[in-house]
Amino acid sequence: MPITDRLARTRVRPIDKENELMQIDATTLTHESSYRLLTGAVVPRPIAWVSSGIEPGKINLAPFSTFTFVSPFPPMLGFNCGMRGSTRKDTSRNINANGEYVVNIADESLLEALHLSSEDYPPEVSEVELLGLKTAPSVLIRTPRLAAAPISMECRLSQVLSFGSTGSEFFVGEVLMFHVRDDLYRNGKIDTKLLHPICRLGGPTYASLGEIITMRSVGSLPSGGG
Ligand SMILES: Cc1cc2nc3c(=O)[nH]c(=O)nc-3n(C[C@H](O)[C@H](O)[C@H](O)COP(=O)(O)O)c2cc1C
Repeated sequence: MPITDRLARTRVRPIDKENELMQIDATTLTHESSYRLLTGAVVPRPIAWVSSGIEPGKINLAPFSTFTFVSPFPPMLGFNCGMRGSTRKDTSRNINANGEYVVNIADESLLEALHLSSEDYPPEVSEVELLGLKTAPSVLIRTPRLAAAPISMECRLSQVLSFGSTGSEFFVGEVLMFHVRDDLYRNGKIDTKLLHPICRLGGPTYASLGEIITMRSVGSLPSGGG
């Protein structure tokens, strides 16, 4: 495999000719080249489709794929919001101001709207209004959820953590209320196949669920699973 890394600063060398294994010295990467490697390596990523803000008609909506749950009990979710140059994104500004937000989960039917909601609009523009999406009131917080989302989780901000040198913020929120579409909820579990979830790969690429492989249970308690 030829060494084609476009960034002269990045030190890349073939280390194992037989298996064509590369070693890329992370300390020589730029912000952008590091981001490219991570978003190609950490795949597939689930997507938090975050509604934020409390003013009617001005609800903000944006997708974030640096997303996972960080505690099963109480249920807590985390996602990372980067900076836009030297300013905070609208999502970050709203969450820091209001201490609450909703993590919506999109299905395949909502992919286009989700993708378009990532465009960089000024703070006064509501992606919800712009895309003709409808919201529904939350039960325990002021920020509404997306009516069309099969799953929505009302979150109260718990912690904001900072990592690295880019000023990005990792928001940790406690889920106060789950909204799950009736047909997806079976015996306390979510039917993943019926959900038709979407995930993000590198760049503007997404994937839907492939084959589901069921393995023999190894009998761990729920808390052992993270
Ligand atoms: C699928 C997808 C995932 C994204 N994930 C992230 C992310 O994890 N962190 C981030 O800062 N931006 C992410 N973005 C970019 C934001 O969605 C984008 O910057 C958006 O304009 C932020 O909106 P806001 O200013 O209304 O908060 C992602 C974009 C897409 C399309």
